[in-house]
Amino acid sequence: MPKSLISIHDFTKEEILHILDVAREFEQNKSQRILQDKVVATLFFEPSTRTRLSFETAANRLGARVIGFSDAGNTSVSKGETLKDTIKMVSNYVDIIVMRHPLEGSARYASEVASVPVINAGDGANQHPSQTLLDLYTIRQTQGRLDNININMVGDLKYGRTVHSLLQAMSHFSPKFTFTAPSELKMPQEYKDFLDKKNIPYTERLELDKGIAETDILYMTRVQQERFSDPMEYEKVKNVYSLTASMLDNAKPNMKILHPLPRVTEISQDVDDTPYAYYFKQAENGVYVRMAIIAYLLGYK
Ligand code: CP
Repeated sequence: MPKSLISIHDFTKEEILHILDVAREFEQNKSQRILQDKVVATLFFEPSTRTRLSFETAANRLGARVIGFSDAGNTSVSKGETLKDTIKMVSNYVDIIVMRHPLEGSARYASEVASVPVINAGDGANQHPSQTLLDLYTIRQTQGRLDNININMVGDLKYGRTVHSLLQAMSHFSPKFTFTAPSELKMPQEYKDFLDKKNIPYTERLELDKGIAETDILYMTRVQQERFSDPMEYEKVKNVYSLTASMLDNAKPNMKILHPLPRVTEISQDVDDTPYAYYFKQAENGVYVRMAIIAYLLGYK
């Protein structure tokens, strides 16, 4: 079975650091057409702006061709074709598959039936490892290091696949966590058990304005309407946090605000003009990191 990226655990600490170094090379030299004979499939069974477009930009900058879909409703899935048959078919056309799917575990399953590497571009509330690698890249870019970072994760920590993957990846680097969430959206116990086993400290908070002063990285997340089965539960928590510029008065000078995006109401527009806002540059970094992931899984770099 070819090497895939389904969970952040599929890469060792050394591989993670290698990807970040290669991504830095791509940021310095943005077009390297080393994959001119390759075809990349982007199969998006769930909406996306950044992940799909940055993977497609990455493939184009590497000289590869891209095929795929952004709406499975226009494919034979709508006629009842299974995920297994779809992946086996696409494997015969391309050299690597990037897939987003709403079902947890679907990306692992796809990697087991595919004959080419699969990159998980998000599977339900489970994992989003390429986002994690770009988050790590951005943390290192802004803080000059990955070790001993104080990360405050805010918002939907229950369903947020980006915070789950980031927590696991940061465990290599002696972090200290603050989890800021309403009781309905707390970090799941399995992730807290994971930290306990590794003796990594964390604090849980309800209020956003408490704890900003000690934070190096304020990792904001959206409350994801699409993950709630009960609309009333979503209504209760949808506007639970809203970060405004006036809440940043006591922030460390080099504190940076990250967000996987899209945002809704959790970061006010006035934060965009502060020196703490880094989420748009973070999204740009996705191109360089995804170039590095594609090249690495195809045996280049
Ligand atoms: N960060 C992220 O996954 O964004 P998209 O949903 O727009 O791809």
